[in-house]
Amino acid sequence: MAKVSRRRPYVVAKSAQTLDGKVAAANGRSQWITSSQTRLFARQRRDRFKAIMTGAETVIKDNPRLTGVRRGNLIKVVVDSTLRVSPRAKVFQLPELCWLATTRRADSKRIRRFEAMGVRVVLCPRRRDRVSLPFLFDQLARAGLEKVLIEGGPTLIGQALRDGLVDSMDIYIAPKIMGDNAALDSVVGLPALAVTRLYRLTNLKIKRINPDILVQGDVHRNR
Ligand SMILES: NC(=O)c1ccc[n+]([C@@H]2O[C@H](COP(=O)([O-])OP(=O)(O)OC[C@H]3O[C@@H](n4cnc5c(N)ncnc54)[C@H](OP(=O)(O)O)[C@@H]3O)[C@@H](O)[C@H]2O)c1
Repeated sequence: MAKVSRRRPYVVAKSAQTLDGKVAAANGRSQWITSSQTRLFARQRRDRFKAIMTGAETVIKDNPRLTGVRRGNLIKVVVDSTLRVSPRAKVFQLPELCWLATTRRADSKRIRRFEAMGVRVVLCPRRRDRVSLPFLFDQLARAGLEKVLIEGGPTLIGQALRDGLVDSMDIYIAPKIMGDNAALDSVVGLPALAVTRLYRLTNLKIKRINPDILVQGDVHRNR
């Protein structure tokens, strides 16, 4: 039988972090690491994408709206294997623009509740007991969402990198130091690699957005 090849969108992962690579304090709060000028720039960049994706934990902790500036039809995608997020979360304010990627671990009544609101619930196979990102990205590409921005958190970005699904990164760095071991690192969950086998960014672009710095680059993994 012929193998069905997976499609996938162009994927950018974005994080806003301190100089020591922290994206949230130990209490889970990340608002705000970067300046208001940087956040406006990052919001304007959302308009270049067809969809913006985030993890369940970011919805629970930050309750973001994930809106662009001009683009009214930006699709929001929430990844949540068991449907822990609240239907009242701000991200679902325009439910017809929302996808909720989940698995059979989710309660069927909860699935129906989101569907009744108009949210598109995508039942995905499991990978490492969570939503299969290769499957989900294939579904997004098939729906014409060929440019996707992942806005954290670090668990989702880590898994997308691990699955080889991230093409490039936008890393906003504030000239601040958190220095707390319990604070959250910008990428987590990758297997420990030798320093010769790390993920690298190439074709670097560096931009100053006072007082912060944006580092953009294409993602490569040394094998
Ligand atoms: N500064 C920044 O740029 C920034 C941006 C965003 C968030 N944050 C901070 O990051 C923190 C939240 O990040 P987080 O890393 O804890 O969580 P996250 O990446 O937002 O969400 C991770 C959760 O999504 C669900 N999930 C389902 N399928 C997944 C998959 N294939 N791969 C990964 N996750 C999957 C999992 O929950 P289930 O297993 O229950 O499905 C997982 O625990 C908050 O403190 C927030 O403030 C900072």
